[in-house]
Amino acid sequence: MAITKKALLKALSNVQDPDLKQDLVTLEMIQNIKIEATNVSFDVVLTTPACPLKELIRKDCEKALLAAFGETAIFSINMTSNVTTISDRGPLLPQVKNIIAVASGKGGVGKSTTTANLAVALAKTGAKVGIIDADIFGPSIPTMFNCENEQPSVKVEDGRNMIIPIEQYGVQLMSIGFLTPTEDAIVWRGPMASSALKQFISDTKWHDLDYLLIDLPPGTSDIHLTLVQTIPVTGVIIVTTPQKVALADAQKGLAMFKQPQINVPILGIVENMAFFTPEELPNNKYFIFGEEGGTKFAKKNDVPLLGQIPIVQSIRESGDNGYPAVMTEGITAEAYKELAAGLARQVAIRNAKGNKTQIVEVTV
Ligand SMILES: Nc1ncnc2c1ncn2[C@@H]1O[C@H](COP(=O)(O)OP(=O)(O)OP(=O)(O)O)[C@@H](O)[C@H]1O
Ligand SMILES: [Mg+2]
Repeated sequence: MAITKKALLKALSNVQDPDLKQDLVTLEMIQNIKIEATNVSFDVVLTTPACPLKELIRKDCEKALLAAFGETAIFSINMTSNVTTISDRGPLLPQVKNIIAVASGKGGVGKSTTTANLAVALAKTGAKVGIIDADIFGPSIPTMFNCENEQPSVKVEDGRNMIIPIEQYGVQLMSIGFLTPTEDAIVWRGPMASSALKQFISDTKWHDLDYLLIDLPPGTSDIHLTLVQTIPVTGVIIVTTPQKVALADAQKGLAMFKQPQINVPILGIVENMAFFTPEELPNNKYFIFGEEGGTKFAKKNDVPLLGQIPIVQSIRESGDNGYPAVMTEGITAEAYKELAAGLARQVAIRNAKGNKTQIVEVTV
């Protein structure tokens, strides 16, 4: 008996996306079905190329097809993706599907390092990724991407000057460091910094982006408020070390985003500098900044722990050398890749829930 499209969809309706908790047919993930005699092919369109469940879903499809049709046909399953969005693609960032802010309370806990490595890890999966370096007074992204001396070009579009982001390692970048000598920005007042950030957001000509990461300065400053007042942020990730003082500040950062009038979803926690393992003693872990502080923090606040990144000399060195650690294969790269997959997964779950993030209007 020849397989029909209807029978194929019926069989695949038994396969669930474990995160979204609905079947692949209802989620409209099965597309491009081709049936030629006993050769059947179709696409499974996942919500992100970084999907950590890709192989599991493929195997579940194979099992469902075997159960329904036995060995009567040859199935070719093409795993592909189309990153989802909650944005209604408002006028400010028409080319961007998801905006993810990277925050902490305390300075120096590794926001910029995490942003750089996450961005490259996501780009390596095939996602289209950009970074806004919102740390106007201390931009790190140009150094971490080895493009400190680059200058973006400007293109006139509809009478407006649009800045073209710098592209490095497959990631589109925008930083005050490309436009003004850092010494100049340091003497700016708060409102000037906020308007510089607004300009990055409104006057940068991004090519299509699945994920735009925003590397925030530490604390809970005007910049943070400007961000949530200017664009609908998909969600925020909070970076912290396991140390008590860092966690106390992370709690303040988290509280800011959770305030009812701001209400930006927390996508998860990154526990950075979680432990140290000497190369010559790979089974030993030293908890320099305390043990599991980030993990407990995530639990207490009922938000996902996206990952634990060890303290590694090469992470610091590669940051300074402008070559993110995730680009050198090894345990560190694996940790960042897992982190990226975890983040992409939380974005997909958040988008499936569908609530839009409102731009905050502050009335004084
Ligand atoms: N997991 C790690 N292992 C080793 N060094 C790290 C790690 N994470 C960050 N660092 C180093 O710690 C320092 C601070 O990191 P980073 O600049 O990313 O922090 P930040 O939170 O962005 O700081 P700021 O608040 O000043 O913006 C840098 O020198 C960086 O190379
Ligand atoms: Mg930083």
